[in-house]
Amino acid sequence: MMKVSVWIILALALVDLAIVVNGDDSEKTVVKTVNGKKVCKRGWECLDWSEYCCNETISDFFQPYQFENLFSKRNTPVAKAVGFWDYQSFILATTSFQHLGFCTTGGKTMQMKELAAFLAHVGCKTSCGYGVATGGPLAWGLCYNREMSPSQSYCDDFYKYTYPCTPGAEYYGRGAIPIFWNYNYGAAGDALKEDLLNHPEYIEQNATLAFQAAIWKWMTSVKKSQPSAHEIFVGKWKPTKNDTLAKRVPGFGATMNVLYGEQVCGQGDIDAMNNFISHYQYYLDLMGLNREDAGPHEYLTCAEQAAFNPATSSPSASS
Ligand SMILES: *[C@@H]1O[C@H](CO)[C@@H](O)[C@H](O)[C@H]1NC(C)=O
Ligand SMILES: *[C@@H]1O[C@H](CO)[C@@H](O)[C@H](O)[C@H]1NC(C)=O
Ligand SMILES: *[C@@H]1O[C@H](CO)[C@@H](O)[C@H](O)[C@H]1NC(C)=O
Repeated sequence: MMKVSVWIILALALVDLAIVVNGDDSEKTVVKTVNGKKVCKRGWECLDWSEYCCNETISDFFQPYQFENLFSKRNTPVAKAVGFWDYQSFILATTSFQHLGFCTTGGKTMQMKELAAFLAHVGCKTSCGYGVATGGPLAWGLCYNREMSPSQSYCDDFYKYTYPCTPGAEYYGRGAIPIFWNYNYGAAGDALKEDLLNHPEYIEQNATLAFQAAIWKWMTSVKKSQPSAHEIFVGKWKPTKNDTLAKRVPGFGATMNVLYGEQVCGQGDIDAMNNFISHYQYYLDLMGLNREDAGPHEYLTCAEQAAFNPATSSPSASS
């Protein structure tokens, strides 16, 4: 008898807990406790029980007008992917990753910084704002959605048993942070449950997929022993002795390192690196954050860092 009533009270308490409205009716946060840990689901944006969904979601601090500000030139007639990229596709893409911590980790400032950092990689990689472009070189992110003049098909036979190239398929750069090579399309396809090995072109036909492939790349480490760009950025990565010797410290600089290695890092103060940093600082400004929030210069740069993955030690250079 006693036991039963305790259970009823517990059940009622749980129901109570589960109804926490956050003001905006379209995005209710539902809370429960699992093994003493608070986990949530939140509206249409943060769909699986996780601690991350207890925090604000991306649409809470990143509105359509901000997307327009960041990528203000993408639909001008000279841009190369007019009409392709939009806010809706971006937000839809993030819903596969917000419950995993993408821009939902560490509190609002960190969340906004991660978004600015991720989008800085996107903007810089897809920019056509060089030379005399109006609006300045930083206003031209999302100008491209594919590599324009590929010099090859990016088919690496080393992976012929795991990710064999489909005859006729071209694995040139596509997406918001472009992916190249059959093995990268294969791995992204496995993760996103799309047949990208047979249909790499899906990524240049669907902006949600193009953003998803980029977020997947940001969230996924190249090797098990290495951090993802996300882990580096939000402070989940603890550098090893080797990392410290190689001058790899947590921050925006090391995200460039893990994503591009020697193409950008360890070469001193080169344009290729500074271009990413400029995009990051510009986006911080546009999102209403301070450049100081990015931390000291040491965290921003990778000028002196040795690559996580030196080109010489892998069978085929990825990019
Ligand atoms: C959620 O945000 C709070 C600050 O508002 C932060 O302390 C906490 O670490 C965040 N949760 C996760 C899982 O990152
Ligand atoms: C684009 O891809 C997303 C994510 O895989 C999918 O939900 C959506 O239906 C696709 N859109 C079109 C027009 O195929
Ligand atoms: C550290 O670096 C040395 C020399 O490059 C290498 O042999 C060793 O495997 C590295 N250790 C780890 C844990 O990566």
